[in-house]
Amino acid sequence: MHKNIVCIILAAGKGERMKSHLPKVLHPVCGRPMLLYVLDLVEALKFPCVVVVLGYGHQKIRPYLKKGLKIVIQRRLLGTADAVKSALGALKNFKGTVLVLYADNPLLKKETIKKLLLYHRQNNLDVTLLTAMLEKPTGYGRVLRDKYANICGIVEENEANDYEKQIKEVNTGVICFEKDKLVKAIKHLRLHRGKKEYYLTDCISVLYKEEALIDAVRLSDKEEALGVNSRQDLSLVNRVMQERINQKLMQEGVTIIDPKTTFIAYGTEIGKDTVIYPFTVIENDVKIGKNCSIGPFAHLREGTRLKDDVIAGNFLEIVRSKISSQTLIKHFGYLGDSRIGRGVNIGAGTVTANFDKGKKNVTTIKDGAFIGCDTVLVAPVKIGKTAVTGAGSVIPKNKDVAAGQVVVGIPARPIKN
Ligand code: UD1
Ligand code: MG
Repeated sequence: MHKNIVCIILAAGKGERMKSHLPKVLHPVCGRPMLLYVLDLVEALKFPCVVVVLGYGHQKIRPYLKKGLKIVIQRRLLGTADAVKSALGALKNFKGTVLVLYADNPLLKKETIKKLLLYHRQNNLDVTLLTAMLEKPTGYGRVLRDKYANICGIVEENEANDYEKQIKEVNTGVICFEKDKLVKAIKHLRLHRGKKEYYLTDCISVLYKEEALIDAVRLSDKEEALGVNSRQDLSLVNRVMQERINQKLMQEGVTIIDPKTTFIAYGTEIGKDTVIYPFTVIENDVKIGKNCSIGPFAHLREGTRLKDDVIAGNFLEIVRSKISSQTLIKHFGYLGDSRIGRGVNIGAGTVTANFDKGKKNVTTIKDGAFIGCDTVLVAPVKIGKTAVTGAGSVIPKNKDVAAGQVVVGIPARPIKN
């Protein structure tokens, strides 16, 4: 990456159209705040300087930002141009290229940004836009071209006339500027009265009039252009991201029977030859070993660790639990806060009653134990090695079952020691 470049990420907006108290950029996409995808992208591109503009809910966003990022607060949310202006305030001595990214655009790929920057440099441009041709361009700024097909402006949806609304080339929000031109253009912007905002996109027509060199790189993968402004956009972006996650896992040797009905959070580790059956939901912070079988209809939540050769079958919820290899949990049940050894058989309908007046208690089951169907384990409780619980038994809290013991009934009592 060249030295004389800075990247500005705009993340100050409230996201009115989300109708949410959570700042828009913290809304999760595949289990992860959307802002983090953009931060990953700039990290991968190794920009020497990255400025993140925060505003609405900045206290909530800050903990997600790594050291080394410059944070600027936009005091009043006066639009994208004003946000960039705040960032430029922290870049007084900088000369060179400014790349602007929007934090509500989590599907962008680093290859695309590289291409954009290369095109900008090789053609000595003053401004380079990243644009996309969308069949349904509603909601995006439309790219205006003059009679020679040179870019002469961007018109936002709410101000576009019928003719302009039919333009399919949209502004993705990613724009590369030479800093001196950007600084000059921003000074000339007018306030849009309706929204009480200054639009960064207005810089284009200002610079066109000053005969700046403006061009665009068009996205070949349209999905990368998708920005999140509404819950509908969020679901669309989620779907695309989920497809990417599932494709990557399949490339790594995981079988996903039906990727369209399989929801796996970003960053989930799954070993080779594991098979995931349909309607499985795997949330954040889950690790699955090799050769496991998961689902259908399994719900694996945070803190779940499955070692190799585990079967976690249908209608199961597992949370904050470690399960060692060759353990079988083949049919419906709930395991929360549990530590389960190797080669354990958990019968259908087993439930760990882990919740007790605001406290979550731990259930421990040692290697080779056999938990009969419909056993309720009232935590905290321990089941020893190779112990057996009878069908329908209830193991009261702190009434540990010793290794090799067989217990039955409610409350469970030993019939073999
Ligand atoms: C913007 C573009 C539009 C483009 C679209 C692509 C403008 C005026 N319009 O519209 O041409 O097609 O993105 O997705 O730029 N933000 C701030 N401070 C503010 C306002 C916004 O930091 O005062 C941030 C937001 O947090 C967001 C980004 O800027 O990350 C874009 O704002 P948003 O309101 O989403 O703009 P769009 O309507 O999507
Ligand atoms: Mg947006």
